[in-house]
Order: sequence, then structure tokens, then C-alpha cells
Amino acid sequence: MSSKKILILSGDGIGPEITIEALKVLKLIEKKSGNKFELIEGLMGGIAIDKTGDPLPDSTIKQLKEVDAVLLSAIGGPKWENLPQAQKPERGLLRLRKELDAFANLRPAKVFSCLADSSTLKREVIEGVDLLVVRELTSGIYFGTPRGFDSQAKEKTCFNTALYTESEVRRIIKCACEQAMIRSKRLCSVDKANVLEVSQFWRDIAISVATNDFPEIELSHLYVDNAAMQLIRNPKQFDVLVSSNLFGDILSDEASMLTGSIGLLPSASLGDGSKPGLYEPVHGSAPDIAGQNKANPIAMILSLAMMLEISFQMKSEAKLIEKSIEQVLEQGYRTGDIAKPGEKILTTTEMGDVICKTLE
Ligand code: IPM
Ligand code: MG
Repeated sequence: MSSKKILILSGDGIGPEITIEALKVLKLIEKKSGNKFELIEGLMGGIAIDKTGDPLPDSTIKQLKEVDAVLLSAIGGPKWENLPQAQKPERGLLRLRKELDAFANLRPAKVFSCLADSSTLKREVIEGVDLLVVRELTSGIYFGTPRGFDSQAKEKTCFNTALYTESEVRRIIKCACEQAMIRSKRLCSVDKANVLEVSQFWRDIAISVATNDFPEIELSHLYVDNAAMQLIRNPKQFDVLVSSNLFGDILSDEASMLTGSIGLLPSASLGDGSKPGLYEPVHGSAPDIAGQNKANPIAMILSLAMMLEISFQMKSEAKLIEKSIEQVLEQGYRTGDIAKPGEKILTTTEMGDVICKTLE
């Protein structure tokens, strides 16, 4: 029996609603497994801006040092959209990832067979899809400097820098190879090496890491435009995909729609193990449905399951949560995002309740 401390950042929009459901599940796991979870709440995102003026206040950074893992729901919304770039809630999220050195973002996309008809794609294209996007998360064009406006230029000019160091690429390729080793040993690295130097650099390092350290892995390469097309044309050809921060951001949203709803997809953001892992759904704060008890809590609950499995080595507990969710979906329970016309729609709370009931 172990005791773990978790920082809960319930954020903005639908964040607080889906957090409640995940914590109901955690309580049950605590009761069933005998493990102890100590929760501390922190401020992050728009709500943190409102209360402290900073999307990632020092008090939250201090809390990071006291916990074993971080569960974050979603941040941002129209209220903060017009703030200067550097003060937006999103910038707090980027700083949080950086603070935790969480360079590896694992975004699995698995199609639940009973939901195959909820996707906008045909059942035969997506049934059986089970892939993992490994996204580099703390470098690339999101963080590269210099960035901003060029005041010397003849006309208004703005720029960002897509920058990677060799060690940054090595560690993310290594992480993707390790994931591929526990899956099908197939890895596809996505870049734009036909145009960008930084992508050719990425590709060369990917080849070097895979051939020298993971000889069993079958490594392939795709240009990002082709990868985006192939993901829709024939997603079953993929197992593990690895890409840079920006390409991985885009491809993981695309991959999520194979499953029917972005409301189903969890993620884990991990460093070298010396700092707490960060777990968050792939979706955003959905301000349009915030406070209406309509959001799908499944991505959040699956993020919790990833936390149990990866940060706490509670594999059986994580499996139990995943199995319960699968069962609930098989029994036909649906939130609005995955319901077909005419199907009964559950509230966020009701969905959390049926998952808990099944878990019991
Ligand atoms: C994501 C989001 C974030 C990102 C935003 C909110 C900064 O889109 O987690 O995928 O671009 O990384
Ligand atoms: Mg995104």
C-alpha cells in the first residue's frame, strides 16, 4: 500500500466539472485498493490570472515540488483571449510543462469498437485503430528564440524560431522507441525534411538512435502533410508516431477525431522521472458548454488512469478504470459529444456516476 500526493489543477471552463468526476473515481480506487491519495489544489490558467495576475503563480510552482504527480483539466477561454500573448492562460501551461521538464507527451488514440459509428469516418476505416502520438513538448517552435516582432524591418514583421538541439531530439526519439518496443516495434517519425533544416536534423537523429540503440525497431518517416492525409486515409497502418511540438499538436487533434470525440482522449507528459508527471485530457476548456453539466468526463478519467499506471505503477487499478469505461460505453451510455441523434444523453455527473457504479 502506498501513499501518493497529487496536485489538482482544475482550471477553466469545463475543467472543474470534469475534475469532480475524476476525483470521484480516484476516491473509489482508494477505497478498493487501500492506496492513499493526498490531494492538494492549485491555481493555474485563467482562474489563476483572475486571482493572482499570473497564469502559473509562484505558489503553484512551489506546490510542484511537493507532489508525485499533477492532474490538470483544461485552461483558457474567451475572457482571457485578448490579453497579450505572454499573459495568456496558454502561456502558463507552456511554462508548467517546461517547469516539469515534461518533454515527452504521450497521446494515445484508441477506437472503442462500440463508438466506431460516432466517428465522422467510416467504421471499416477506424475500427481497431490503436495508435500513440509521441509529441515533443518542451522545445521546437513553441519555445525557440528569438521570437516576436522585428522592429528594424521595413514593414511590420513577426517571427518564431523552430529550434531543436541534438539532445532534445535524441531523448524524445528514445522515448518513442521505448514505447514502440512495448507495442508493435513500429515507429513512424513525422517531419518536413523536404523543406526544413530542423526536420532533416530530426530525421538524421531519429535514424541514428533507432539503428544504434533499438535495432529491432522498424523505423519509417513521413512528411507531415502526407502523415495528416494518411491518418485519415488508413489510420490502421500506424502504431507509434513521433513528432515535434507543433506537428505533434496538430496530428494528435487529428488522431483524436478518429475515435469519435476529442472528449475521449487522455495524455501524459513526462520528463526523465525526477519530477512529477503531468496528466491532462487532450481537449480544451470548451467554454461554450462550461457550467452546463454537459461535458464528457472520460478523457479526464482516462488521464487519471494513465497517472495511476505510469507515475504510480498501479497497473491493475488503471486497467480497472479503462475496463469500466469500455463497459459503460458498450452499454450505450453517451454524453452529447458521442451520442447519435435520438440517443439518450447523460450529464457529466451522470456519466461519472455510471463509471463509478461499474467500477464498484
Ligand atoms: C494542447 C493544446 C496546447 C498546446 C495549447 C492550449 C497551448 O493545444 O495541449 O494540445 O498547443 O500544446
Ligand atoms: Mg493541441
